[in-house]
Amino acid sequence: MNQATSQQTKPRKILITSALPYANGPIHLGHMVEYIQTDIWARFQRLRGNSCIYAWADDAHGTPIMLRAQQEGIEPQELIDKMKAEHQQDFDDFFISYDNFHSTHSEENKHFSEQIYLAAKAKGNISTNTIKQAYDPEANMFLPDRFIKGECPKCGTADQYGDNCENCGATYSTTEVVNPYSVVTGATPIEKDSEHHFFKVSDYADFLKNWVNSGAVQKEIANKMNEWLDDGLNDWDISRDAPYWGFKIPGTVDKYFYVWLDAPIGYIASFKNYCDRPDVDVNFDEYWKTDENGENNDTELYHFIGKDIAYFHTLFWPAVLKSADMRLPTGVFCHGFLNVNGQKMSKSRGTFIQARVFLDHLPAEPLRYYYAAKLSNTVDDIDLNLKDFQQRINSDLVGKVVNIASRCAGFITKKFDGKLSANLADEALYEKFTEASDSIAEAYESRRYSKAMREIMALADLANQYVDEKEPWVLAKDENRQQEVQDICSQGINMFRAIITYLKPVMPELAKKSETFLNAGELTWTSVSEPLFGTEITKFKALMTRIEEDKIEGMLAANKILLNEAAVLQGGNKKAETEVSDENKESDPISSTIEFDDFAKIDLRIVKIVNAEHVEGADKLLQLTLDLGEEKGQRNVFAGIKSAYEPEELIGKMTVMVANLAPRKMRFGMSEGMVLAAGPGGKDIYVLNPDDGAVPGMRVK
Ligand code: 2FM
Ligand code: ZN
Repeated sequence: MNQATSQQTKPRKILITSALPYANGPIHLGHMVEYIQTDIWARFQRLRGNSCIYAWADDAHGTPIMLRAQQEGIEPQELIDKMKAEHQQDFDDFFISYDNFHSTHSEENKHFSEQIYLAAKAKGNISTNTIKQAYDPEANMFLPDRFIKGECPKCGTADQYGDNCENCGATYSTTEVVNPYSVVTGATPIEKDSEHHFFKVSDYADFLKNWVNSGAVQKEIANKMNEWLDDGLNDWDISRDAPYWGFKIPGTVDKYFYVWLDAPIGYIASFKNYCDRPDVDVNFDEYWKTDENGENNDTELYHFIGKDIAYFHTLFWPAVLKSADMRLPTGVFCHGFLNVNGQKMSKSRGTFIQARVFLDHLPAEPLRYYYAAKLSNTVDDIDLNLKDFQQRINSDLVGKVVNIASRCAGFITKKFDGKLSANLADEALYEKFTEASDSIAEAYESRRYSKAMREIMALADLANQYVDEKEPWVLAKDENRQQEVQDICSQGINMFRAIITYLKPVMPELAKKSETFLNAGELTWTSVSEPLFGTEITKFKALMTRIEEDKIEGMLAANKILLNEAAVLQGGNKKAETEVSDENKESDPISSTIEFDDFAKIDLRIVKIVNAEHVEGADKLLQLTLDLGEEKGQRNVFAGIKSAYEPEELIGKMTVMVANLAPRKMRFGMSEGMVLAAGPGGKDIYVLNPDDGAVPGMRVK
């Protein structure tokens, strides 16, 4: 059945999710592709009169979150609360109309994780096995692969992650890494035994083979899954040893659920949390119950995800749900990655753009439109070309869409007291707008948003051609042709209204402002078949402004500074070092502002460099011993200034340091602050050198 175009007798009941962002990092424009894709679909469904609940959460567990909190000297709970608030603010400002945003570190999620695990265990789908794993003897913890670094066993490049080499592309196991070290402490990992709990995915191989080919996933993903299934499925390790930030596995002393076990369960938990809200009247069981065939045909469940996590969502997740006798997703919708200016998002190129930085410089809706104009229902990557973005917005939205209203509204307001004509001047033309409804709806329904945008812009072209040909501004000068002017402009405004209705899932704010301008109630999908006759519009105000190049440049510059700061704070590993120096070579953009309170937190002190040495194995770092005066004593700091100074030149000099930067364990030892330096990089880095009279320990004002 064609769900978009069929006569709908009963509204559909739909639950949708986006993948849960990790709670240890900010939202970037890559994330936003998915949330905007999901949100457009949710808004489209609602505009069509369906119920579409959008529930998701922060992915709040796992080793990186535990370590990040440790590094910041706070409890994980504080970190995840802070990140959740930031994430939600980003979503709100991008007009993501989610119904609930919860956390995987929640009561509900604990409940469902335990329930699902115990159900799997009761069915015999859980096994245990003792395995050897890398262990950090200093931090007393097992190390996930990405927390081990060392030299690539194939090409010898240093500081490569434990499972793949960025230089030669080789993949390998952590045990093959040469001179491995723990990213946490720098210690050499040892191997240690530990008992792990496994979910026996292979118990569900036959079920998965059917499910894959049931139409729930895109063809290209189904093909990939068939390959995985043909290769045979390994049992899935769902446990981690303490110390771990997560939920303890029932019946164990110190084993925790692996973050990827409880993450998708977070979809259920968030929905439960939503249903339990006093202001919400939605029945949880209606969505999650199953009939005698283990199905739920009363409601629909869709997960929007990136292609990189298809494995988890199309193999493990359905198998886990089946094992717990829970309903299955109606569909898993995968999208591709975001490139920026034709290349992978990159920190060193400054194109790893944070959502907040974008919002600080540019309006959100144009990005929603640009993504929509690029998105299809395939897993192809999409490209955010910033020049093209600017041109596309200025030409499509400002030049075409908004232009229709701005060309017609003035005449209606000035000459006809805002009143629209009682009939359509060109019914046949307007019919093209009503006729487009099914095709545009089908494009939205099937996530071929780029097709929908093309069709909508073709309508905008028709509307502009009409106004161009009729030239109401010429007729307006002729006293005898005033009725024609009103009719032409009313036709124009009705065509504008139809276009805005079709664009409403993508441009909710533009739609809202247009609703105020049109002054005839809320636009719904059926509005198009009921044009406005004889109603009064309000005075036209600019609905959108052009995007200027300097705004994009300002955004990129601010983002670079942010990335630069993050890289300096990360310090120590070569990747961060390289990124800092690469970025230093670039322009010298003006930073985005910070509040005074943020500035006041920085404790800048005069220090004397009492010793400076080379650091064995580091390309960019010098090790400095800094004297902060009698009271505060000495500090050890690693500074990325080797390209500009010989250690001897520095000894005895005064400089300025950030004295209250949290100490950071680096590969070469603990770094207890940062010295301030300026310059484009290479030989041109200048350590700040205060005037005579400065004394170690003095506060810099
Ligand atoms: O890849 C990620 O960013 C994960 N945090 C996605 C989890 S989606 C779901 F399984 F919870
Ligand atoms: Zn290599």
